[in-house]
Amino acid sequence: MAPTPRIGVVTISDRASRGEYTDRGGPAISAYLKEVLDGPFQTVPRVIPDERAGIASTLKELADEEGCCLVVTTGGTGPAVRDVTPEATEDVCEKMMPGFGELMRQTSLKVVPTAILSRQTAGIRGHTLIVNLPGQPKAIAECLDAVFPAIPYCVDLIGGPFLTTNEERLVAFRPKKK
Ligand code: MTE
Repeated sequence: MAPTPRIGVVTISDRASRGEYTDRGGPAISAYLKEVLDGPFQTVPRVIPDERAGIASTLKELADEEGCCLVVTTGGTGPAVRDVTPEATEDVCEKMMPGFGELMRQTSLKVVPTAILSRQTAGIRGHTLIVNLPGQPKAIAECLDAVFPAIPYCVDLIGGPFLTTNEERLVAFRPKKK
C-alpha cells in the first residue's frame, strides 16, 4: 500500500510562536486541505518565528526528514523588516516556481489592493513543493483556490504521491498523456 501523503503546514509569526496570539493560519490551511483533498493525508504542523535560518531549517526538515510532498507556509511574505519567508524559501529550493506567486497576487488583487505587498513565492526542494501564503487567515482559501488545481500534477512531476481532490469542491488539472 502506498504511504499516506504528508503535508507540512508552517505558520511563520513571531507573536504566534511566542504564544501572544492563537495561530489561526495553520488551522485554516489544515481545514482547507481537509475540504479539498479526497483520500487520506497527514499534516505536519509547525509554528515558528520570523527568522530566516530557522525557517530554512524547518522547510528542510519537513522536506528531507518528514518526507512531505507539499509544504504550505503562512506569514512573513510582506515588506516589513522581519518578513523573510520568501528569502528562506529561496535558500532551500533548487528551483523556483514564480507562477504560483504571480497567480496568487493577481487573484488576491481582485479582493484587496494591498495584495501587491505580498512577495509570496513557491519552489521545489527534491520531491517537495513549497508554497508561501500571506499571514492573513482569509488569504489562505483565496490564494489556494487559485493555485491548487495545478498542485497535484506538480507533485506528480516531482515524484510525489498521486493526490486526488474532492471534485465537487475543486477539480485538479492533469494534462492528458500524449
Ligand atoms: N492576499 C489576500 N488574498 N488577502 C489579504 O488579505 N493581505 C496583504 C497581502 N496579500 C492579503 C493578501 C497584505 S496587507 C500584506 S502586508 C501581504 O499580503 C503580506 O502579508 P504577510 O507579511 O502576513 O505574509
